[in-house]
Amino acid sequence: MYRTHSCGELRASHINSEVTLAGWVQKSRDKGFMIWVDLRDRYGITQLIFDEERTPADIMEKAKSLGREFVVQIKGTVIERVSKNDKMPTGDVEVLVTELTILNNAKLPPFTIEDKTDGGEDIRMKYRYLDIRRNPVKNSLIFRHKVAMEVRKYLSEQEFIEVETPYLIKSTPEGARDFVVPSRMNEGQFYALPQSPQTFKQLLMVGGIDKYFQIVKCFRDEDLRADRQPEFTQIDCEMSFVEQEDILNVFEGLTRHLLKEINGVEVDKFPRIQYDDAMRLYGNDKPDIRFGMEFGELNSVTKHKDFGVFNSAELVVGIAIPGGNEFTRKQIDNLIKWVKRPQVGALGMVYCRVNEDGTFKSSVDKFYDQEDLAKWAEITNAKPGDLICVLSGETTKVRTQLSALRMHLAEELGLRKPNEFAPLWVVDFPLLELDEETGHYHAMHHPFTSPKSGQLELLATNPGAVKANAYDLVLNGNEIGGGSIRIHDKATQSTMFKHLGFTEEEAKAQFGFLMDAFEYGAPPHGGIAFGLDRLVAILGGQETIRDFIAFPKNNSGRDVMIDAPAPLDDEQLQELNLKLDIEE
Ligand code: AMO
Repeated sequence: MYRTHSCGELRASHINSEVTLAGWVQKSRDKGFMIWVDLRDRYGITQLIFDEERTPADIMEKAKSLGREFVVQIKGTVIERVSKNDKMPTGDVEVLVTELTILNNAKLPPFTIEDKTDGGEDIRMKYRYLDIRRNPVKNSLIFRHKVAMEVRKYLSEQEFIEVETPYLIKSTPEGARDFVVPSRMNEGQFYALPQSPQTFKQLLMVGGIDKYFQIVKCFRDEDLRADRQPEFTQIDCEMSFVEQEDILNVFEGLTRHLLKEINGVEVDKFPRIQYDDAMRLYGNDKPDIRFGMEFGELNSVTKHKDFGVFNSAELVVGIAIPGGNEFTRKQIDNLIKWVKRPQVGALGMVYCRVNEDGTFKSSVDKFYDQEDLAKWAEITNAKPGDLICVLSGETTKVRTQLSALRMHLAEELGLRKPNEFAPLWVVDFPLLELDEETGHYHAMHHPFTSPKSGQLELLATNPGAVKANAYDLVLNGNEIGGGSIRIHDKATQSTMFKHLGFTEEEAKAQFGFLMDAFEYGAPPHGGIAFGLDRLVAILGGQETIRDFIAFPKNNSGRDVMIDAPAPLDDEQLQELNLKLDIEE
């Protein structure tokens, strides 16, 4: 037996027992006549002691040679510690070593394996296996495991079954580029890795598996951010004979279960907000509603004066910053600079202080009197002591800018509390979205999403106005899930493809299999997919998903540890029929 106990297990009740432990040397202190070694494994740290009087000389000698991260096995007796450490669960005891086996030497690690390490991000990614030895990373992986277990438990109890779907498939349109895999056996042909199992889960519904789920890898070749990885994991779900209401209820149940089991938080019924309202009130389809600061549209109370900037703007919109009247002139100037940065892109910002005595002082006093400003305060819900920030311009742009300012200020003011959870459903998304570059409409969710009943005709006349049976689950300002009720008849699906610019031949070539299946008795169905990485990160009080993935990619999509992607050698390229300039 390599070990009788783990390094996190021994307590005062074990005193006098003989134990065998195995693990890594966290650190050692050599006082000459006495050596202490902290032995670490996944479960904790136990202090070992070697001393001249009680430890045989050869073991004493070997102990002196131990370096950081050596892998060792020891046998010894649990004894009471002279100076106890109440910060460690094993701090009442130490193990007096009687046998020491060095299982493996270790080079000096390139950074310290401590909770607070001296290693920067790059070096820790290169040596991720060492990083995983550190508590923060290890604990994140354990946390992820717990969430996944709870998901499986909950859904299985609701009679969902987990079914695996293939990875070597054909393109699934989820809005990103595909990662492709060349086929050796089919010259010049390629598989695409799934952006999601969307079409397969729909085929499972045709197959009668009326409650499906899968914790599954998805692959998307898109620009990376803190909440995006090229390969990520979904909790992918689909149900038959359901309406939107059924899906929202089941998955609200799952989310509530997770918040309770994982975070010990009970949440009331999730609010629902229409997409249009989310855009109007928060400038964003994934609003963080842990704090207020809702938008107030000020067109009606700003356009009657001579202020040209507002008069020519499509939208004039403001937010009240709680306690913002305390900001100094310099702080406000910095805010103005912040919104004018190219990343935000506002042309400027008008502000209005709401004094404690109820009077106002604005940066546009020349144009607006106290009565005007009182209306601004009323509409933005500003209280004495607040600061009203107002942006103006083209509606879509200005909403995005004010949303960025809202989030920035909330972050600065500590209003985005990581241990507070505010989930909500965003519903009634538009079916289509206009691509500014090409001038074409594309599906906002995906092409299998059904329009709201009775709106199919609108597709021909006013496609942008058609609403979909599509919904997102938002948690603390992050989209953690999205889904829809699907089209389940061939005729509607064909109409949809036509409006998305597919010719009949293209639609048949790409999705013929699905259209065919719809002709063999497809039940009404719908579903949702959660981003597991995002969900886990947010439940864990963070927003960077990389920290919750064992072996993540960096922002250029590289795995710097294994150094991938990498070129292929000529022979392999030829075998895959990818070598264009083959010399005879
Ligand atoms: P969607 O494209 O909205 O829907 O994806 C579902 C959820 O997956 C997460 N997600 C990501 N997480 C990390 N990195 C990424 N690159 C990434 N992209 C998406 C998000 C998102 O809400 N087939 C549909 C679901 C359905 O209709 O049932 C789909 O994939 O949290």
